[in-house]
Amino acid sequence: MRRAALLCRSLENSMAKSTRYKPKSKNKAQESVRTLISREKIQRRIAEMAQEIRRDFPTEALHLVGVLKGSVFFLTDLARQMSGDISLDFIAVSSYGNRTETSGEVKLTRDLDSSIEGKTVIVVEDILDTGMTLQYLLRVFEQRKPRRIRVAVLLDKPERRLAKVRADYVGFTIPNEFVVGYGLDYAERYRNLSDVGVLSLGKKEKR
Ligand code: IMP
Ligand code: MG
Repeated sequence: MRRAALLCRSLENSMAKSTRYKPKSKNKAQESVRTLISREKIQRRIAEMAQEIRRDFPTEALHLVGVLKGSVFFLTDLARQMSGDISLDFIAVSSYGNRTETSGEVKLTRDLDSSIEGKTVIVVEDILDTGMTLQYLLRVFEQRKPRRIRVAVLLDKPERRLAKVRADYVGFTIPNEFVVGYGLDYAERYRNLSDVGVLSLGKKEKR
């Protein structure tokens, strides 16, 4: 009985992450999230992307490198949709801090565990915005002599691009809006939402 009640509660909790999310805390009360891409659409597109990647590399071992922390949900779902030989690693860079504007400065905060020399690397990123992060990472990775590098991003905001970089696999091209959910955060919050939504900060705070 207790188990059933707990299960029921956890189901209710997961359903409570509804498409329109409003935080209860007072200073966050002005924030709201409007769904842009539903969880179903995200999952369908990821399955297609996995096939696109495998079509390009039908037999090769692929080394997926996720950029922490935003890409974690995307990477795990993508990896589970992929057949064949797959290995994973993670790297972390600092970008936005607690604001919605980029500083333009990219810093490596956690390096890979293993060498990428001779490997076919798929860099997995949550979103391609100004492109500064990806430009930096590609420079770092190219020096390490991988067999080849491809880039997969869930979201692409081409309007904001400053660096001359592009992704080989793009989930969704989106307009110039600040989005959260499915790994993407605002001040470390909202990553756990299953949908991707546009964050609005309300009247008080400006982006
Ligand atoms: P870029 O260097 O400007 O391309 O930014 C890349 C990083 O900035 C992403 O990996 C995200 O972590 C973050 N970012 C860019 N746009 C958004 C957004 O709309 N919401 C949340 N994070 C974002
Ligand atoms: Mg990121």
